[in-house]
Amino acid sequence: MRADGAAPRKDMSPDPIIEMQDVGKWFGSYQALRGIDLRVARGERVVVCGPSGSGKSTLIRCINRLEEHQQGRIVVDGIELTADLKNIEAIRREVGMVFQHFNLFPHLTVLENLTLGPIWVLKQPPAEAQATAMRFLERVRIPDQAHKYPGQLSGGQQQRVAIARSLCMSPKIILFDEPTSALDPEMVKEVLDVMTTLADTGITMLCVTHEMGFARQVANRVIFMDQGQIVEQAAPEEFFSHPRHERTRLFLSQILH
Ligand SMILES: Nc1ncnc2c1ncn2[C@@H]1O[C@H](COP(=O)(O)OP(=O)(O)OP(=O)(O)O)[C@@H](O)[C@H]1O
Ligand SMILES: [Mg+2]
Repeated sequence: MRADGAAPRKDMSPDPIIEMQDVGKWFGSYQALRGIDLRVARGERVVVCGPSGSGKSTLIRCINRLEEHQQGRIVVDGIELTADLKNIEAIRREVGMVFQHFNLFPHLTVLENLTLGPIWVLKQPPAEAQATAMRFLERVRIPDQAHKYPGQLSGGQQQRVAIARSLCMSPKIILFDEPTSALDPEMVKEVLDVMTTLADTGITMLCVTHEMGFARQVANRVIFMDQGQIVEQAAPEEFFSHPRHERTRLFLSQILH
């Protein structure tokens, strides 16, 4: 019990696991991120939305250094992202990422895709890596697909494999970049369901998505970006019922029917 009498929230603590301060990112002369300030608490679930080209992917890709920022600071779980390769490697071990286009190795089976990182990067014995992989395939509800190749699976199944692959590395943070936008509509729900169950595990989630039902149900906070800036952020209820900025209202009117 805290001094103010309130029970601490099980799934969230106030110390930030991701901290971005005045982050700027340029592609040549084009500035894709402008003065981003963002603190994400341990266990927090953040949905990022905004129009195409607003910098959503760039923002989350900077967190595991798939993109390099040129201004400001990014600190992940106490480690600052600098040119120091040791830091980059350390952060990448803590941060998993799930992309729009799955990015599975087509010539490896599902099980091999899942055990590659744990065996080669985490140096796990193969039997242990396989046991862990099977556990996560059960979690995403496709243990029966373990010995197939990605090309033999539906898009929704492939995306669930990609989520399981990420979890096999025991990340503290998982970043999703529009994980359902390449899927046929009937497969969106099965992937969102898996992501929703993940939310209960206490892992920190940052998710770029326009699935606003998911945002309402799962997010602690919704962030709206436009032109490389965070324009507005609020808890989902507040965000959807009382958007403060004209740009947010316009965006919501376009995606909510
Ligand atoms: N590798 C790159 N080289 C040059 N410009 C880039 C590169 N990646 C992104 N950009 C530009 O940076 C801006 C932000 O791109 P970003 O991909 O982050 O947007 P986004 O919000 O994720 O858009 P979308 O919803 O279409 O995925 C865009 O104007 C884009 O054209
Ligand atoms: Mg994007």
